[in-house]
Amino acid sequence: MAKEEEAVEVSEAQIAVHWREEQYYQPSAKFVGQANAADPAIFERFKEERFPECFKEYADLLTWDAYWHTTLDTSNAPFWKWFVGGRLNASYNCVDRHLAGSRNKAAIIWVPEPESEETKAITYQDLYTRVNEVAALLRDFAGVKVGDRVTLHLPMVPELAITMLACARLGAIHNQVFGGFSGPACGERIADSGSHILITMDGYYRNGELLDHKVKADQAVARASQDGVTVDKVLVWRRHEGQYASQTPMIEGRDFFMNELLPTYRGAVIEPVSMPAEAPLFLMYTSGTTGRPKGAQHSTGGYLAYVAGTSKYYQDIHPEDTYWCFADIGWITGHSYIVYGPLALGTTTVIYEGVPTYPDPGRPWRIAERLGVNIFHTAPTTIRMLRKVGPDEPSKYNYHFKHMTTVGEPIEPDVWRWYHDVVGKGEAAIVDTWWQTENGGFLGSTLPALQPMKPGSCGPGVLGVYPAIYDENGEVVEAGSGRAGNMCIRNPWPGIFQTIWGQPERFVEIYYRKYCRDKASTDWHDWPYFAGDGAVQAADGYFRILGRVDDVINVAGHRLGTKELESAAITVSEVAEAAAVPVLDELRGRAVEMYVALKPGIQASKEIEDKVSMAIETEIGKMARPKNVWIVSDMPKTRSGKIMRRVIAGISNFTDVGDITTLANPEIVEDVRHHVQSEKVARGEVPRELTTQEAAEIRAFGQAE
Ligand code: WT7
Repeated sequence: MAKEEEAVEVSEAQIAVHWREEQYYQPSAKFVGQANAADPAIFERFKEERFPECFKEYADLLTWDAYWHTTLDTSNAPFWKWFVGGRLNASYNCVDRHLAGSRNKAAIIWVPEPESEETKAITYQDLYTRVNEVAALLRDFAGVKVGDRVTLHLPMVPELAITMLACARLGAIHNQVFGGFSGPACGERIADSGSHILITMDGYYRNGELLDHKVKADQAVARASQDGVTVDKVLVWRRHEGQYASQTPMIEGRDFFMNELLPTYRGAVIEPVSMPAEAPLFLMYTSGTTGRPKGAQHSTGGYLAYVAGTSKYYQDIHPEDTYWCFADIGWITGHSYIVYGPLALGTTTVIYEGVPTYPDPGRPWRIAERLGVNIFHTAPTTIRMLRKVGPDEPSKYNYHFKHMTTVGEPIEPDVWRWYHDVVGKGEAAIVDTWWQTENGGFLGSTLPALQPMKPGSCGPGVLGVYPAIYDENGEVVEAGSGRAGNMCIRNPWPGIFQTIWGQPERFVEIYYRKYCRDKASTDWHDWPYFAGDGAVQAADGYFRILGRVDDVINVAGHRLGTKELESAAITVSEVAEAAAVPVLDELRGRAVEMYVALKPGIQASKEIEDKVSMAIETEIGKMARPKNVWIVSDMPKTRSGKIMRRVIAGISNFTDVGDITTLANPEIVEDVRHHVQSEKVARGEVPRELTTQEAAEIRAFGQAE
C-alpha cells in the first residue's frame, strides 16, 4: 500500500491523507439480475426528505402485534425512540412466523470444529421446539421475567442462538459475553448488567483442542460477587451429551446441566411476550474511553427492523440462500448478521464452531462447498490469515459465492483484491461494511447491485443514514478534499443503541457532546453522532475509514480499550505504571504492546514481563495478549503527568514520535527508543514502513483523551 500513497502535507493539527484512487469494480450482471435492491428508485425512497418515514419499509419486514403510531420520537434527545406504540416479539419474528411456509427448512446449520463430527441442521420447526423448551426452563426453573438480564457466556454452538431467542421470547434482556473473554471479564459484565443467571457450556473446540470453559463460570461468579452481584444459578450446556468437558466440579444448588433439566419441559409452548418496540432486546458490552466496559443497550423494534432491512438489501439475503457469516455471535456482527437479521428473513444461517485454519486452510472452502454456501461474510483478519497460509486453497473447491462481506477493520486494497479474485472467484459482489457495536447494523457500505465497489473504501452512507466528516471546530470537511476528520452520522437510525446500560450521562458525553449544537434541542439535526473513527471522503462520496481516534486498539477485529489493558497490567504487584499502544501487525491489523514502569527498587526481568502478559490474559482474554511487554525506567509524560502514548506508539512502530518539547522528561524518549528498537531489530520485528494513513493514526493515538 505504501507505493500507492504519497504524502502531501503532514501537520499535527490537520492531517491530509492522499492516496491514488482505486479503480471501481462492477458487480456481475448475474448478481444484479437477482438482487433484492436492483432498482435505483430505492435511493428516492430513502432520501433525506423522506426521513424518518423511509424506515417504515424496514419495519414492514416484521410482524407486529400492534402497529406503531410514531416513527421517530425525538422529544428526549438524544435518547431516540423508534416505532413508538408498536409491539412485537423478536423470537416470534425469527421463528414462529416462518413455520407456516418453511417448517422443514434448515434455520441453522451448525458445523462443529472436529471434521469427524456430524454437521447438524436445525429446521425452523426444531428451532421452534427448542426455543420454547428453553424459554419454559428459564421461566419456570430459573425464574426469568420480563426485563431481567441474563448473561450468556457461550461458544459458537446452536445453543447460543437458541438461548438468545428463548430470552427474547420471554422479554428478558440477553447479555452474551464473547466466549473468548476470561472469567473475570465475564464477571464484570454480569455485575454491571445485574444478572443473576449465567448460562454457559462445559467446553468447546478451538484449534483441535477441547477447551475447559466451565472453569471460567466459577471465576465469573466470584468476580461478580466481589462487584456486589450474586449469581443464583449457573446453567451449563454440555458440548457432548452424557459427558462433562470440564475439570471443575458442579456446585450443588447453583450449577445445573441444561440437558438434564430440559426433559421436564418437553413440548412446552411459551406464548411469545408482546414487547413494546422500545423494550431492550439485549446488551452488548464494548470497550473504550474508560476502564469500565459499557453495555450498549439495543431495542427490540428498531434494532430488529434495521437488521432485517440491511440483511435484505446489503447482504442480499433471500429466503432460499445459504448464508454464512464467519464471525462470532459474541460480537455485534454475530447478533445482527448471524442470528437476528438472517432468521428474521427466514433464511438458512450457518454457524461454525472453530478457527478458520483447522485442520488446514481449506476448511472454510470445504464447508462452503459441502453446504452450498452462496453468501459469505468475514473480517479482514481472517482473510489475511487464509491468504497467508492457503493462498490457492479456494480454487480447489467447487463453491460459488454471489456475495461477500468484509467487516470490522480497514481492509488493505491488496487483501481486498485477493478476497475478490480468489475467494470470490471474481463472481461475488463485495460489501465493505463499516459500523460499530453501538450501531446495531451497517452504516457505511455500497448497495451491492447499484453502487460499484472500491477496494479499501466502505462506500457512502447506507440507505437512510447521512454521514459527514467534521473537523475539530465542528465544521463539515469537504468531500474529496483529502482532509481527514471525525466520522459522524447526522441523523438517528432505527438500529442505534438506546443508551449505555445504567450510564445515560456517559452515553450523551461520549457520543453526542462533541458536536451537539444545542443541548436543549429536540431536533435531531442538532445532534450528530460522533463515531470515534477518523475518515476521509473521496469526491465520489465514498468514505475510507482510517481507524479509531480514541484510545481503542482494534486487534483482529477485537475492540480493546487501553484503560482495560493498563488496569490489568497494574494488577501485577511489581508494576507501578502501564501504557498500552497499537503496533502494526501483518495478520491482526494491529497488536498490543505494553510499556510498564516498575515500583522503586524492583529489577526488570523476563518473569515480570510474563506476569504482565498473563495478567492481561486472565483479566481480559487470550485475544488481548500483548505482542511485547517493555519494561522501561520511566514513561514519557507531559508536565501534568499524563503518559504520552503517541510517543511510545511512535517508538513501537519505528515512526516519528512527533513533538516532544512539551514533555516533562524528554530525555527518556531516546532511552526508551534505543531499548525497544534495538531489541526489536534483534528479534527481527522491524515493521514495514508505515503509510501516511497509518502514521497519522499512530500520531493521533491517545490524543482524544
Ligand atoms: C470499530 C467498531 C461492527 C462490527 C464489528 C466491529 C472498525 C468496523 C470497519 C470497516 C474500517 C471498520 C472501526 C469501528 N471498523 N468496520 N468496514 N472498515 N474499520 O465492531 O467492535 O464495535 O468496532 O471497528 O474502527 O469504530 P466494534
